[in-house]
This record gives sequence, structure tokens and C-alpha cells, in this order.
Amino acid sequence: MRLLITGGAGFIGSHFTDLRLRNHPRDLVVVFDKLTYAGNPANLAQAKKSANYRFVKGDICDRAAVIRAVKQYRIDGIVNFAAETHVDRSILAPEDFAKTDVLGTQILLEAVRAHKIKKFLQISTDEVYGSIERGTFKEIDPLKPSSPYSASKAGGDLQVLAYRHTYGLPVLIARSSNNFGPRQYPEKLIPLFATNALENKALPLYGDGMNTRDWIYVADNCSGLDAVLEKGLLGGIYNIGGGNTRTNREITYGILKILGKPETLIKKVADRLGHDRRYALSTAKARTLGWKPQWTFAQALQHTVEWYRDHTAWWQPLKSGEYLKYYRQQYK
Ligand code: NAD
Ligand code: TYD
Repeated sequence: MRLLITGGAGFIGSHFTDLRLRNHPRDLVVVFDKLTYAGNPANLAQAKKSANYRFVKGDICDRAAVIRAVKQYRIDGIVNFAAETHVDRSILAPEDFAKTDVLGTQILLEAVRAHKIKKFLQISTDEVYGSIERGTFKEIDPLKPSSPYSASKAGGDLQVLAYRHTYGLPVLIARSSNNFGPRQYPEKLIPLFATNALENKALPLYGDGMNTRDWIYVADNCSGLDAVLEKGLLGGIYNIGGGNTRTNREITYGILKILGKPETLIKKVADRLGHDRRYALSTAKARTLGWKPQWTFAQALQHTVEWYRDHTAWWQPLKSGEYLKYYRQQYK
């Protein structure tokens, strides 16, 4: 495949780029990324060593730039990771979320339509289903998003499904649960708490700390996404989850234990507005593709926290400037 990976300079997209270059060495991989605060060229250091890798700085909302890249590299597959991704930011400033996550997706679909691209994989999230008290969400469950982020992601999914129904485009959707691992921007729970603990700073735990997420290690998510791209039935939706439901308190204590830091660092702060209580996915359908997660949660958390401990040069610059402004605004 001659693959365009949008949002490939971010956390999951960069791991997926590495996986494709490793496992499909004859394919071309073109990362197309706007390099927002979350996009980081350092995430592509490994990819840059490959002769089959190219980078284009561009915005998926810029139709001409998308078409230019598709034509220049004779792209025949697109995987769309590009998105605004942080729920707290979406509560403060929702507009960019609607723009990139809905309109940007639609512009990519137009490129698929005009240029006879053979596969389009939309990277979506379990958050589009909303919160679930017990049990797990299946792919046939209705969408009930509750944050500006998840509503925008649901809007993207609906565009994809409409283009399938109306124009018969060769699309796939993967809905992943909460990822964690190296290179995740230190605004999300695990990297924020690991790096704060390393700096002996407070860990701002929202509400009662009992909100629950279904955690998946990023490598397991990427192998699932690859299985969907290679073997998924066109028009299909696939949940990719780790099956590791943990409360935020459990995660917090886990990080402190790995780093040998005191529980006094935990600071209970006001709850997130509209905070979803629990996410959990059924992954039976993805497992029919021959995929299953390989990492245990404990191994993956240990590996991740140690990565942040050993890569301060990666995250310390991110915890100043733009990030710090946001952080101060939230927790002053
Ligand atoms: P991230 O925030 O780390 O990276 C997003 C990337 O998209 C960045 O490189 C950014 O520069 C780029 N980008 C943003 N707007 C763009 C635009 N208009 N044009 C081109 N590039 C743009 O995100 P992530 O955590 O790696 O998530 C990647 C995808 O996976 C997203 O679509 C997200 O919704 C989805 N997802 C993430 C998780 C998770 O836990 N992180 C879980 C499920 C689904
Ligand atoms: P996050 O990593 O932002 O992912 P999402 O909201 O997309 O699931 O948050 C994960 C959980 O951690 C969520 O329940 C909110 C909570 N949380 C905190 O308690 N404190 C924090 O500082 C952050 C960023 C998140």
C-alpha cells in the first residue's frame, strides 16, 4: 500500500507509523500532520531512518494540501489519526475539535472519493458510545457522546458511514479504548501523573477518583488497527480495547508505587464538567481477525512509567509554554 497516515506525528499515529514501516517494508508511508501542540517531529525519529518514509506538514482541513499529497505520492490508502484529542481542552475550546474531527474527516473522505483510494481507516474512540455503568459496548450500540471531543469524533464517524452508504466508499472504522505508552502527550492521565510524580508535583485527581477506563497499551492498539486495515470487512466497525478496566485511583496508586513516590502527592480537585463515569468495550469482533492484546496491564504500566522516568528530555520541554499555560488555567 502507499499509505497516508494523517496525525502520524502524534502519540498513537507515530507508533502506528513505526509498526507499518517494520511489518510492511515494501510499502510507502507518508505522514501528513499539521504539527499542532500535540504533533512532535521527535516522535518520528525511528521512522526517519526508513527509505520508505516521507513527511508532509499539512492540515486535513486544507483540501488543496490533502489532494496535493495524495497526487504527489500516488496514495491508495489513508489512515486518519489526525484529531484534537484532549477532553479537557474540548471543554475549554470546542471549536477546533469540530473543525478537525468532523470537517477534516469529511475533506479526507472527499479525497478518497475523487482519487479512487482503495482503503480509508478512520481512527475513532470508545468515547463515542458514551458512558456505561456495567458491561461493555458492542459496535452495533448507538452513539451517545457527551463531551465536545466525543461528539466531534462521533460526527467524524457519521461522515464516514454516510460516505459508505451514499457513495460506497471503501471505509473502515476502529474504535479504540484509552491508550497509554511512550510518547503520549503529558496532558493525559498516565503521562501527566507519571511526570508530575517524577517532579514531586501534585497529581490532580478529578472528583472521587472512581471514574473507570478500559486501558490498552499502544502497541496492542496498533496491532489491532493493523489487523483492521489489512483484514477488516469494508464498511465495518471494530472495537479495539485492552479489557483492563481500572479506576483512576487504581492507576494513580499504581504509578506512585512504580516510582516509589508518596500518596501525599495526590490532590483531589474539582471534577471535570460532564465527566463520563465508565468506558468498556467488547472486542469479540476484532478478535475474529486473529488479533488479541499481548501485554498485561501491569507490565505495560511499568514499562510506560519507566519510559517517562528515562526520557525526561522528551517530555520536559512539553511541560512549559503552551502546556503550562493550560495547566495553570485549569488548576490555579
Ligand atoms: P495526539 O493528540 O497525540 O496526536 C494528534 C496528532 O494529530 C498530532 O500529531 C497533531 O499535530 C495532528 N493534528 C491535529 N489536528 C490536525 C489537522 N487539522 N491536520 C493534520 N494533523 C492534525 O492524539 P493520539 O492520542 O495519538 O490520538 C490519535 C487518534 O486516536 C485520534 O483520532 C484520537 O481521537 C484517537 N484515539 C485516541 C485514544 C487515546 O487514548 N489517546 C483512544 C481512542 C482513540
Ligand atoms: P484522560 O487521560 O484525559 O482521557 P479521557 O478523558 O479521554 O478518558 O483522562 C482519563 C481519566 O483520568 C478521566 O476519567 C479523567 C481523569 N483525569 C484526572 O483525574 N486528572 C487529570 O489531570 C486528567 C488529565 C485526567
